[in-house]
Amino acid sequence: MNDTCTPFASALVVFGASGDLASRMLVPALFQLDRKRRLPARFVLLGTARRPWDDTTFRAQLRAAAAARAGLDPAGDEWAAFERRLFYVSGDMASGALYRRLDERLAALQDGAADRLYYLATKPDLFATAVAGLGAAGMLDERDGRKRVVVEKPFGHDLNSALALNRALHAVVREDQIYRIDHYLGKETVQNLMVLRFANAIFEPLWNRNYVDNVQITVAETLGVGHRAGYYDRAGVLRDMVQNHLLQLLALVALEPPARFEPDALRNEKVKVLGAIRPIRGSDTARHTVRGQYRGYREEDGVRDDSTTATFAALRLHIDNWRWQGVPFYLRTGKHLPTKVSEITIQFRAPPQGLFQGEESCRITSNRLSVRVQPDEGIHLQFETKVPDQGFAMRSEHLEFHYREAFEGVALPDAYERLLLDAIRGDASLFTRADEIALAWELVDGILQGWAGRQAPPLEPYEPGRWGPPGADRLVQTDGRSWNLLGG
Ligand code: BG6
Repeated sequence: MNDTCTPFASALVVFGASGDLASRMLVPALFQLDRKRRLPARFVLLGTARRPWDDTTFRAQLRAAAAARAGLDPAGDEWAAFERRLFYVSGDMASGALYRRLDERLAALQDGAADRLYYLATKPDLFATAVAGLGAAGMLDERDGRKRVVVEKPFGHDLNSALALNRALHAVVREDQIYRIDHYLGKETVQNLMVLRFANAIFEPLWNRNYVDNVQITVAETLGVGHRAGYYDRAGVLRDMVQNHLLQLLALVALEPPARFEPDALRNEKVKVLGAIRPIRGSDTARHTVRGQYRGYREEDGVRDDSTTATFAALRLHIDNWRWQGVPFYLRTGKHLPTKVSEITIQFRAPPQGLFQGEESCRITSNRLSVRVQPDEGIHLQFETKVPDQGFAMRSEHLEFHYREAFEGVALPDAYERLLLDAIRGDASLFTRADEIALAWELVDGILQGWAGRQAPPLEPYEPGRWGPPGADRLVQTDGRSWNLLGG
């Protein structure tokens, strides 16, 4: 029983609770939710990991981690109240004894019937061990309350390992009990894409091959691989960023309006998009993809001297359906690029007739709608306007919406706040389903096999601080296009 002697009705059990993810993302997000009074009144977090801590050490560790982050104030009353919801049980996930101890502790804290959410924030090779352990201990039984499992990324290393993980999960839980995290779906601006498209009447009629020339999705980072080199060198940019975040963004841009706003209706539409992406294999890989590695990558601690891991990728994808036939989707992402920015650009076609043609200054730049995912979240629409008193000379101007200005004083929540709350409440809309994951891996596996084969595109070096290797520009220039300038 907890300090107030009231049983906790809703529990979050975090596996890997001594790790970075728990202290840097999950616990701060839960604290913010608690502060906003969004957590169920009787909510408890039970952390578990191998470290031989007890509740007191666990709380002290989290307090120390919170002190290092801006805006958390672990010395304040709100943190003190929050901390009373945190508990810890140590143990080895491969041993049945841990699950028995967890179950006993939860039974004592929850006093009978209760909902439980199990969060797998461990190394990926332990995901299957944890669900099997939970299943064997009867801790997924729903007779006394709902049981759900949140699975962190990466979800598999390729299609086969993802399918194997799905099988291991499905052996003990139903698909609707599984919440696969992609933190990009928790970002406000990503969700706003759906509002922009489906709560406004003016965009959707233009959102197709008749009016759109191309779509660009950029997710750029300024940092290198840092302390994650060991993982990254085995994963590379396609697994780390494209298979999940960029393909999820693409799916949301390209999907058909779902009939209802509910998890499976939305996810069915995403699956249709992912299933319609033209596969890239063999010699197509060199034509449609570019891979780069920043100079200095091989000297990073934990990276092999002869590593051929790509830290940058640019892709040209085609979606073979009625809406998007013939419209290229250009994706690019990488480490050590000039600026940290994620943006989706819908580049519209030029007007069919150049009415105001003549001098250079009368050349029309076609309209562009940009959704800035981060930072300075917002939306920009570029359009042409007449320069006063200069005949029909024109200039591109912008209509701009910035979240920061429009919602002054409202801090955009971290993606984990939204995702944790949805998982606690049982809304799976912003989580990826088994079939989405498999389709995304199918595409990425094809490219990875192409990259490993004899017809692979060269691994092009690029200087840190540049927009990837020269091949990235060539990819769009051969189509007579260019990347949208994103600053930096
Ligand atoms: C993670 C990747 O999923 O996303 C990291 O593993 C990457 O390599 C990160 O840095 C980027 O996320 P964000 O939210 O900072 O754009």
